[in-house]
Amino acid sequence: MTIRISPSILAANFASLGTELESISNADMVHVDVMDGHFVPNISMGPVVVEDVIRTSPVPVDAHLMVADPDTWAPQFAEMGSASVTFHAEAAKAPIRTAREVRKLGARAGIAISPMTPVEPLLDVLPEIDMILVMTVEPGFGGQSFLDVTLEKIRRARRAINNAGVDVWIQVDGGIAEPTIERAAEAGADMFVAGSSVFGHDNAAERVDTLRDLAGRHFCHDV
Ligand code: DX5
Ligand code: ZN
Repeated sequence: MTIRISPSILAANFASLGTELESISNADMVHVDVMDGHFVPNISMGPVVVEDVIRTSPVPVDAHLMVADPDTWAPQFAEMGSASVTFHAEAAKAPIRTAREVRKLGARAGIAISPMTPVEPLLDVLPEIDMILVMTVEPGFGGQSFLDVTLEKIRRARRAINNAGVDVWIQVDGGIAEPTIERAAEAGADMFVAGSSVFGHDNAAERVDTLRDLAGRHFCHDV
């Protein structure tokens, strides 16, 4: 089992993104939050900035699209070179078609669900996706508190993935720090997005290693 850490640049200083990206070169991926002011009540960055991040980043880009029209945008973020493109189940009109397009363009396809969205529909289509993103806060803002009510959903996803014998990652995003990363890992998550608990600190690389180590020690496969 591989534990992956994907720091979210939403918590970074956008005026010195190059330096910020260098500071997490020991991470597995870098998480890029795209918000359009429609799907979520916030606007972050669009394709122009993400393209530069892809060009500059020492690690592959993990794009999280919080946009109202992911069927149009997800393939475009795949085409520009994101290693992984995740879009929301609540927003997609044709999620399987969109996931297939993303894969065809060479990226991993992820589907995200907000805290109140059931995971069960995704468990029926596991061979079509590479990652389930269980949002552990309401999407839209960094720095919120982890929602423990999502843990049971992570466990159900882990059991279904184990039973199906597929290589689908379970990503958690929102409020990941100590000790919440331990609980998410115990529930079976294997990929961890961390914004403020990485970029809010002097030594971001050290934070990445600490979080990866904690998650590795608490990860539970048979939940
Ligand atoms: C929230 C974003 C997160 C956010 C996490 O909608 O999807 O990726 O940056 O930030 P923290 O880790 O500070 O909760
Ligand atoms: Zn995110």
